[in-house]
Amino acid sequence: MTMPDAALWQAGFDRLLARIDTTGTTVKEGFPHYGDPATGRWTTSPAGDWTGGFWNGLCWLAAHGTGRERYREWALAWAERLRPRATSDTVFRGFLFYYGALLGAVLLGDARAREIALLGARGWAPSFNAKAGCFPLGAEAEEAYDVGHGEANVDTVQGAALLVWAAGEAGEPRWREMAVSHARRHIEFCIREDGSVCQSASFDPTTGRMLRRYTHKGIRDDSTWARAQAWAIVGYTLMHRWTGERDFLEVARRTADWWLAHVPADHVAYWDFDDPAIPDTHRDTSATAIVAASLLKLATLVPDGELARRYRGAAEATVRALVERHLDERGILGDGCYNRRIGLATRNELIWGSYYLFEALSVLTGRLEPARI
Ligand code: GLY
Repeated sequence: MTMPDAALWQAGFDRLLARIDTTGTTVKEGFPHYGDPATGRWTTSPAGDWTGGFWNGLCWLAAHGTGRERYREWALAWAERLRPRATSDTVFRGFLFYYGALLGAVLLGDARAREIALLGARGWAPSFNAKAGCFPLGAEAEEAYDVGHGEANVDTVQGAALLVWAAGEAGEPRWREMAVSHARRHIEFCIREDGSVCQSASFDPTTGRMLRRYTHKGIRDDSTWARAQAWAIVGYTLMHRWTGERDFLEVARRTADWWLAHVPADHVAYWDFDDPAIPDTHRDTSATAIVAASLLKLATLVPDGELARRYRGAAEATVRALVERHLDERGILGDGCYNRRIGLATRNELIWGSYYLFEALSVLTGRLEPARI
């Protein structure tokens, strides 16, 4: 028997909350990174890698959704551990400090979270390359290869929203301009004519000229890696939400429409849309969860009511598929594929996948306004 929507959303929320409890009480060192669905054990990252902020983000959402103090305490304890990361030479400071700290400032008005989010923004802003109009990956970017000052990833557009928020908070309008320019440059770098997305690009750091498009984690340079598509959808949706710029909404729609036209009928993406082994290959529930959360936001941002209903319906169908088939009773979202190219965590629980599913369920259970964060 099919569970009614409201009961399914609540059950999914409760399961993920139980997993937050288990994680918060068992992980003492580092940040939860990816989990083994068989044992429930987390592999942690000592300093947060690019993913640590998503654990904090789960705690911030739990604090906001339940009002329980323990979640705020956990969120703050791990936010404190991010302080040294403000000066890491990696573009992924956007992810770390948006989810890791900004959420506490925006959702709970937490002063310490605000201070840490601003620290991250202040540390990251000087790495802007004015000639190229973007933030490069940086020498310490958490990719297995091809990092540095002439490389770019679509996975970094979302993080620019940290700077838009911080610009207003700190009275630094230049940060907003940098963030907008960064997102615009990535339209050229990564968004193809048909609305599909290429993960990465190289550019000449002295002129900004794009030199090539390629992929860090997809199957081929011209394929569509599921998370590239997903990161573009959430990145441009959030950049529109924070700036009001119309071209970002247009890119968010185009990339979302491409996803909806190509995702399997059961709503859960394979790790790369062009893997010739489909259907005998890995899924990526994390990419799928990113898109579900983004579609809920888009449904409130598009002016056209029919399109809004379509996005909302697709988001609900996607969340249902994830909860019914991939989220177990312990709150472990399985079948995330971190990095197929190097065989890393290819059928696992991934902290960011759990974050976006929890965000979507927070919306669907009425605990969170869809486009607040
Ligand atoms: N670099 C972000 C990701 O692997 O999705």
